[in-house]
Amino acid sequence: RDSQEQRLIALHEEAQELYHHILMNTQSGEAALDYLLARGLTKDILETFKIGFAPKERVILQQIFKNRNVSDDDLSQSGLMIQTDSGKWLDRFYQRIMFPIRNQRGKVIGFSGRILADETFDDSGLPKYLNSPETKLFNKRVVLFNFDKARGDIRKKNEVILFEGFMDVISAWKSGVQNGVASMGTSLTKEQIAALERTTDNAVICYDGDSAGIEATVRAIELLSQQSEMQLTVVRLPNQMDPDDYRVKYGEDALKQFIRNNRDTVFVFKKEYLMRGKNMSLEADRLEYIDQLLLELAEIPSIVEQDMYATQIAEEFDLSKDTILLELQKKKRAKF
Ligand code: GTP
Ligand code: MN
Ligand code: MN
Ligand code: MN
Ligand code: MN
Repeated sequence: RDSQEQRLIALHEEAQELYHHILMNTQSGEAALDYLLARGLTKDILETFKIGFAPKERVILQQIFKNRNVSDDDLSQSGLMIQTDSGKWLDRFYQRIMFPIRNQRGKVIGFSGRILADETFDDSGLPKYLNSPETKLFNKRVVLFNFDKARGDIRKKNEVILFEGFMDVISAWKSGVQNGVASMGTSLTKEQIAALERTTDNAVICYDGDSAGIEATVRAIELLSQQSEMQLTVVRLPNQMDPDDYRVKYGEDALKQFIRNNRDTVFVFKKEYLMRGKNMSLEADRLEYIDQLLLELAEIPSIVEQDMYATQIAEEFDLSKDTILLELQKKKRAKF
C-alpha cells in the first residue's frame, strides 16, 4: 500500500492535470487563458510549467476526489480542500491561476494561485497570491519554485538567478534564462540557501525594481553573505519594473541581455542604496554616508577589492587614501 505521502502527491498531480486541462481546453478557463496570453505567455510555456485554472465554483476537486472515495484525512492533509462547519468539502483554490510547486524531484507538492479579477468576480479583500498551507508534503521553508527544472542550468552556468515572483521566473525562462528560482514570497531561509550552495558558487539577486524589491535585496544580501560562501551580484531593474514587466516592455532578448550585462557588486549596490534619502551637500549626511560605506567596505573579503574602492571613495570625497585606509582598519578591528 502507498504511504500517505505518495497518496498526497498523487492528489496533487491529479489536481495539476485538472487545473491545466480547464485552463487550456474549457470554456471556464477561457478568461484566464486570454489573460495569460495577453501577458505574453504562450501555450507552449503554459504547458512547460503546467499552469492551470481553478474555477470559482469550488467543486472541481471535490467532485473528482469524492467519486474516488478519497478519505477525509487525505483530503484534509492535502491542503487542497477545506471542510466547512457543516462538514461539506470545498476546493481551497478558486478563481485563481494555478502555479504548481514542485519538489526537487519534480513532484507536485503544492500550489500558488494568482487571483483573476474579471467582470464576474470581485477580488477585493482577497490576497493576490494564495499558497498551499504547510502540509506533510509542502514546507515553504524548503521549497524553491522552479528549482527542479533549473538545477541543470544552474550547475552548467555555475550560477543561480534569484527572482521575487513566479511570473518573473517564468518570464525569464521564456527569455532563455533558465537558471532562475523564486522563494514563496518570503525571505530566503537557511534551508533554501544551503540547497543553492550545494548546487552553485554564484548567486545573482534580480528582485523587483520597486522599493519593496530593493529592501528585499538588502535582506537577501545579508542572509546570503552570512549563511553562505556564494559570490553575490545584484541586477537592479529600472523604473520600478520587475523582470516580467521588463520583458513585456522591451522583449525577451532585452531581458536576457539586461540580466547578463547589468550586474553590480554588492558594494556598488550598497553605495547607491546608502545614498537614498541623504543630501550630499550637507556635511553631516556626507560624513554619515562615508562612515556607512566604510562599514560595508570592511565586509568585503578581498583586499584587492577593498583597496580599489578605497581609492574611489578617497577621490569621490576629496580625502586622502591614507585616511580612508586608516578608518577602514579601525572598522575592521571593531568587528572582532
Ligand atoms: P504579477 O502581479 O502577476 O506580475 O505578480 P508578481 O510576480 O509581480 O508578484 P509580486 O511582485 O506582487 O510578488 C512577488 C511574489 O511575492 C509572488 O510571486 C508571491 O510569491 C509573493 N506574493 C505577492 N503577493 C502575495 C500575497 O498576497 N500573498 C502571498 N502569500 N504571497 C504574495
Ligand atoms: Mn497539456
Ligand atoms: Mn513586488
Ligand atoms: Mn513583481
Ligand atoms: Mn509582475
